[in-house]
Amino acid sequence: MEDRDIHLRKLEHILICNHCEVEYRKDTLFNAVELIHRGVPNCNLEEIDTTTDLFGKKLEAPLIVTGITGGHPKAKEINRNIAEAVEELNLGMGVGSQRAGILDSSVEDTYRVVRDYDIPLVIGNLGAVNFIEDRWNEETIERAIEMIDGDAMAIHFNPLQEAIQPEGDTNFKGVDILKDIISNYKRKYRDIPFIAKEVGEGFSREDAITLREIGFDGIDVAGSGGTSWAMVEYYRIKDREFREFSKRFLDWGIPTAVSLLYVKDVFPGTIIASGGIRSGIDMAKSIALGAHCCGVALPVLRAALRGSREVVKILERMIRELKTTMFLVGCEDIEALRKAKYVIKGELREWLDVKTVL
Ligand SMILES: Cc1cc2nc3c(=O)[nH]c(=O)nc-3n(C[C@H](O)[C@H](O)[C@H](O)COP(=O)(O)O)c2cc1C
Repeated sequence: MEDRDIHLRKLEHILICNHCEVEYRKDTLFNAVELIHRGVPNCNLEEIDTTTDLFGKKLEAPLIVTGITGGHPKAKEINRNIAEAVEELNLGMGVGSQRAGILDSSVEDTYRVVRDYDIPLVIGNLGAVNFIEDRWNEETIERAIEMIDGDAMAIHFNPLQEAIQPEGDTNFKGVDILKDIISNYKRKYRDIPFIAKEVGEGFSREDAITLREIGFDGIDVAGSGGTSWAMVEYYRIKDREFREFSKRFLDWGIPTAVSLLYVKDVFPGTIIASGGIRSGIDMAKSIALGAHCCGVALPVLRAALRGSREVVKILERMIRELKTTMFLVGCEDIEALRKAKYVIKGELREWLDVKTVL
């Protein structure tokens, strides 16, 4: 694909996400989780401590903005607005896929802009499929990390998005080459954490076992219930037949709460819950179910198009809701929240009945 086409596609994604209804019709299934209210919380709301450690970095709350964009002029403004907000709130952020910057150094500055800010955790982003299709290696990772002065690298897995795009890269066979590439990178350059990241359809237990064996330090489940790539591509694709094709996959994916519980069963590393995380209550439920941190994209993207103050407002609201929820379940800090009691209801129970096949 031409560089210019990648830039255009990225911009189309932003515009569609800003103007159209792109979220799943189905739920994350956090609605099927209830934390047990404490009428006698025995703690002081004012003293609730949301600080947490993620990959050795201290964050004000277990919240990061996950990878969204890069590669076109609008992306620079979006990344700047997100960076300014997460610097102010002391949270983490990821940039969007850095493929455009790897292929065309003239757009590197759209990612590089995050280096101007003092952010505790900056996460790079490359696509798993490109390590196969474009024969990327540890040098590619180093270029991406240098571009943003990154502290961690997310490798995204987006099979649904690639499969429903007329121009998609669909050869995921042999992703285990990442095992050598990651260990070579750590040996030759530096020992940063690697995160396997879905983009909105979630990972299964079997996936988490594979990712564990490849040597990932963390998994961002990015399950379904938030941004739906079938929906985004549906609006973008001009060809009528392809549009109808993508429409059939609108409800495809593992709900975020399910994916989180699947991954937690078999993955010993750091777990990030994302995909449809829209409130501090979703965050508290994620942490109680086993996540170390939560991630959010779509609402932040929409806010970032209006300026960094809007991003601060959204993230502050989520942290305030998290604090209130922690108070209501009697948990003074994140460690206590990880042990909070919960009930699992209805459809979520059915998903949990499925046994691992490996
Ligand atoms: C416009 C847009 C672009 C995205 N681009 C990337 C990307 O380049 N790399 C990636 O790993 N995820 C990307 N994502 C996925 C998000 O990081 C996130 O996993 C997903 O949107 C689910 O979270 P949400 O429901 O809070 O939006 C993108 C999301 C949006 C909305």
